[in-house]
Amino acid sequence: MSAEISHLAATEFSNPNLEILYSADQIRTRIVELGAQLTREYQGKELVLVGVLKGSCIFMADLMRAIDLPLTIDFMAVSSYKEGTVSTGDVEILKDLSNPIRGKHVVVVEDIVDTGLTLSRLLEILGSRGAYSIRLASFLDKPEPRIKKELKIDYTGFVVPNHFVVGYGLDAAGRYRNLPFIAVVKNPAEA
Ligand code: IMP
Ligand code: MG
Repeated sequence: MSAEISHLAATEFSNPNLEILYSADQIRTRIVELGAQLTREYQGKELVLVGVLKGSCIFMADLMRAIDLPLTIDFMAVSSYKEGTVSTGDVEILKDLSNPIRGKHVVVVEDIVDTGLTLSRLLEILGSRGAYSIRLASFLDKPEPRIKKELKIDYTGFVVPNHFVVGYGLDAAGRYRNLPFIAVVKNPAEA
């Protein structure tokens, strides 16, 4: 029984096919910094955090607890049509916001900006809804494959090299979102 449990515990968080880029401790420290910055910059404003499902779920949960202000949250789910692994920039809204953002200060919370096509389109859509301001917080910024060079990320957790990364909400074919750290999958064929 105990052997079984330790086997289970070793299969994902200690998966030898993962190379850790940012540890849970490093992530915690960075989130506290981002939260303090947002707390300063949104004093006295009606702040709405809009999480983009599913990848942002963990970042959203940690970031909101690091912001010492009254705020509300909402979620959107979008699917970007991909040709193979390349995003085409067409975005379908799978789940829209539950509440209007008119007159609010919005921070869109995303897991990673890669080409930037998904986020650019999403910001365009939200931009027509009468918010006072819309800013972008992305846990990771992968600048190398960026197509939308003009996309501004206002709050970034970490800048990552041009590798496929997983953990802390980010997945590979649905797996690895539960890793408490950010890792590179060394051999995707073995994933
Ligand atoms: P973009 O439109 O190319 O910026 O794609 C953004 C979306 O692709 C992100 O929200 C992620 O869901 C996914 N994505 C891009 N790069 C990675 C990665 O390295 N790991 C996991 N998901 C990724
Ligand atoms: Mg995403």
